Amino acid sequence: MSEIVHVNLAERSYDIHIGPGLLERSGALIAPLLERPKVAVVTDENVAELHLTTLRNGLLENNITMSHIVLPAGESTKAWPQFERTVEWLLAEQIERNDVVVAFGGGVIGDLAGFAASVLRRGVRFVQIPTSLLAQVDSSVGGKTGINAPQGKNLIGAFHQPSLVLADTGVLGTLTERDFLAGYGEVVKYGMLGDIEFFQWLENNGPALAAGDMALRIEAVKRSCQMKADIVARDELEKGDRALLNLGHTFCHALEAATGFGDRLLHGEGVAIGCALAFEVSARSGLCSQEDPSRVRAHLIDMKMKADLSDIAGELPDADGLMALMLQDKKMMGGTLHYVMARGIGDAFVTSDVDPNVVRQVLQDGLSVRR
Ligand code: GLY
Repeated sequence: MSEIVHVNLAERSYDIHIGPGLLERSGALIAPLLERPKVAVVTDENVAELHLTTLRNGLLENNITMSHIVLPAGESTKAWPQFERTVEWLLAEQIERNDVVVAFGGGVIGDLAGFAASVLRRGVRFVQIPTSLLAQVDSSVGGKTGINAPQGKNLIGAFHQPSLVLADTGVLGTLTERDFLAGYGEVVKYGMLGDIEFFQWLENNGPALAAGDMALRIEAVKRSCQMKADIVARDELEKGDRALLNLGHTFCHALEAATGFGDRLLHGEGVAIGCALAFEVSARSGLCSQEDPSRVRAHLIDMKMKADLSDIAGELPDADGLMALMLQDKKMMGGTLHYVMARGIGDAFVTSDVDPNVVRQVLQDGLSVRR
C-alpha cells in the first residue's frame, strides 16, 4: 500500500513514494537513477542505529552497495564543520558527477546532505529518504537545502531538487511521541494555510493517526506532500505563493532563536505555536473571525501539542525582544517584514500590511499568561 505524489518541475520533476516498507524496496526504486551500482549515504547516529541495516539490505536486493557517513544527531550538525566533513568525505569516496547521494534522516540530514550534493562537483543528484514526519511532509520535498549561520537558521543554502523521495511511513513508528507531534505541526499547517477540508479531516482523524493508524498516516503524508508539490510547482524559487508554506514560521524562528534552537522547543512545536499566533494576529487585525484562532488552538490542545507561549518551558524575551528576533526572518524585503496572515482556516496570504502594535500586543498577552 504505497502512494506516489509527482512534483511537476519540467526536467527537475520527481516522484515522492509514500508508504511502509520502502526501505526494503529502496534498491528497486533507486536503481533506475544509477549509472553504477553504488551510492553514498549521509545519515545520523540515531537513524543509523535503527534503520541503516534495513536500507543496506534493501539496496543489496538490487546489488547496489553503499558507503556511509554517520553525523551527530541534532540541529548543531547543520553548520559549516559537519558540512565540510561531509563534502570532503564525498570527495574521498570519489563520488562522481553521475553518482547519487542519499540523504537518510530527518530535516537536518536532508538539508545538509542536499546542500552538499548541490555543491559537490557543481551539483550531483540526490535522493531523500526522510525518516521523521517533519521531513516527510516538508523538508524533503521542494529542494530547499542548506545549513544554519550564527546569524540565523537556513541562511546558507541552495535550491537543489532531489531526484526521488522515499517517505517510508513504517519508520514513523520509531519516533518518540514528541518528535511525531512536532512533525504533525507541519501537517496541520497545510490545512490551516490552504485546505479547510483537510483541517477538518485532521480534527476528525488526528488522534487516531498519532496513535499509529497506518492508513491515516499515509493519507496525511500524501495530502501534505500533494499540497506542497502543487505550491512548489507554481513557485519553485519562492517568488510568491511558496511563502505561504511559512505560515507560523516568522514567530517560530524567533522562538527557536530565543530558546537556543534545541530541545526546549522543537521546530514543529514552534510552527504550531507560530500558527496559533498568526491566527490570533489575523483575528485582531479584523482579517478572520475570533473563532478561527480558538479552533486552531483547540485542535492543537486536542492533539496534546504545545499551542501557546506559556507551553514553552523557561524564560522568554519580552515582546520587543521577540520582535527584534523576528526581524532576522528571510521574509524581510526592502527592510519590511512580510507576514503570512489568514482570512480564515484554509485561506492564508502574504502581506507586509500588519500593524506591529497588534503583533506586540498578541505577544505581550501570550507572555503575560506565564508570569
Ligand atoms: N519549508 C518551506 C518550504 O519548503 O518552502
